[in-house]
Amino acid sequence: MGNAAAIARTHFHAMIPASVQPTLHLESLQPPKRRILFVTSEFADLIKVGGLGDVSAALPRALSAQHDIRVLIPGYRQVLESGRTLRIVGHIKGLAALPACKIGRLDLADGLIVYVLLHPALFDRTGSPYGDPQGHDWPDNHIRFASLGLAAAEIAMGQAGIHWRPELVHANDWPAAMAPAYMTWRKAKVPSLLTIHNLAYQGICDMQCSAELAIPADACGMEGMEFYGKLSFLKAGICYANHVTTVSHTYAQEITTADFGCGLEGMLQAKVKAGQLSGIINGIDATWEPASDPHLVQGFSMDQWQGKQANAAYVEQLFGLASDGPLFGVVSRLVQQKGIDLTLQIADQIVNNGGRLAVIGRGEAELETAMEELAMRYPGRVGVHIGFNETDARRIFAGSDFLLMPSRFEPCGLSQMYAQRFASLPIARRTGGLADTIEDGVTGFLFNEASVDSYQGAIRRALSIYQHPELLNAMRCRAMRAPLLWQQSVKPYDRLYRQLLNEVHAAAELP
Ligand code: ADP
Ligand code: GLC
Repeated sequence: MGNAAAIARTHFHAMIPASVQPTLHLESLQPPKRRILFVTSEFADLIKVGGLGDVSAALPRALSAQHDIRVLIPGYRQVLESGRTLRIVGHIKGLAALPACKIGRLDLADGLIVYVLLHPALFDRTGSPYGDPQGHDWPDNHIRFASLGLAAAEIAMGQAGIHWRPELVHANDWPAAMAPAYMTWRKAKVPSLLTIHNLAYQGICDMQCSAELAIPADACGMEGMEFYGKLSFLKAGICYANHVTTVSHTYAQEITTADFGCGLEGMLQAKVKAGQLSGIINGIDATWEPASDPHLVQGFSMDQWQGKQANAAYVEQLFGLASDGPLFGVVSRLVQQKGIDLTLQIADQIVNNGGRLAVIGRGEAELETAMEELAMRYPGRVGVHIGFNETDARRIFAGSDFLLMPSRFEPCGLSQMYAQRFASLPIARRTGGLADTIEDGVTGFLFNEASVDSYQGAIRRALSIYQHPELLNAMRCRAMRAPLLWQQSVKPYDRLYRQLLNEVHAAAELP
């Protein structure tokens, strides 16, 4: 319920005796729900590679009280084989090399509607959304994800035959970033919002692909989606969306600088000047509840800590770790962004101080191998699992004392929030969303430089707190209360959606 509605109800009821109060229709006090299409390449209920999957599953649900918000995802094998009933409700005509597709509809148990873009040759494959099981990108990713963007545009134009037409399209990251572009080229009178979850992944393809993707000639220049002689999907999204958000305030500033801007800082600075770039921090969903999470070996709370030890015991057993000393966890994609090489270099410090390290992750082959070698060097002290497992990840958050996140950059980061909620203190670099969601010395430990020295300083501070159970306990309690739930991020998105809708209608009324 909005504040205005809450205040109105309180005053209204205070003045009239209960016996004569008429029924108040609260819906009439709320602004009307608007139709929003949320376009994404991951959706945690069905398929997840990282935090985008979590956000795509949580944010539309959190916004469903304010809006009729529906999700559009590609029909990957994992979606087709999820055992859910999929009804064919529409179709997308092909364009240039983009094939005709069908649109399926899933009605999830909680009422969320998910549209699925169906084309078996494009999406029904073994592997991740972006590549084969060996980790190589699919060579036709430009066709696959341009098809996603085109489908969103066709739905926005009311041409997909699904009997529902959004008033605003919210595209996420490069795989959905062609949606605002096709909407502009097709003159859809519907505003679009692009959320950047990670500027480092841009969806680049050769300039020669422009004909296959039906990109107009004037969009292939510097003012459009040209990027160092190639085509960038993300640049197209930034260029053509009515507004761009990213997932924390600090990252929103960082990406306008040469250090973090990935070559797009100039364009992003222009967006700031035009009032078209802002940061909205991610939240976490209600499943991250240490007392009742069914993934955990045993629940726990600030008054009842035994469950935390039970999860630690599980982690020790799973990773073959000794049972003494502080337990450090890593739950991460093993990629350069995450500073995994730095953790490899400070692991000696952890072990030499009697600590233990449990790592679950997968990613770049060299980092996976280096992690496995580290585990072999320190049996009983370092345990490494190359893989992806939601239950084990949650048990590491719950069982560990500290979570390592020395990211070189971090648009928002969810793992540090999950860790805090589960009373594991994050040790993280002061960048992006890590800087915005961790209070140094209160709910975790921040260090400034992406260097071994700086990182070791934070580990030293953590080890020293570990020696003082009352201080450790106080930090754990503060950390558990710290993370934002999605409800707090709903307001800024709601405000932004309504602002964009108003701007478009005001522009339409101009003579
Ligand atoms: P990013 O999206 O950059 O990978 P985030 O911190 O935003 O980083 O989100 C990562 C998400 O993926 C979290 O939900 C985290 O728990 C999960 N995750 C990462 N690696 C693994 C893994 N190996 N097994 C299970 N979950 C993982
Ligand atoms: C990206 C970012 C991560 C963010 C997530 C969800 O994967 O790397 O920092 O939390 O998206 O927005």
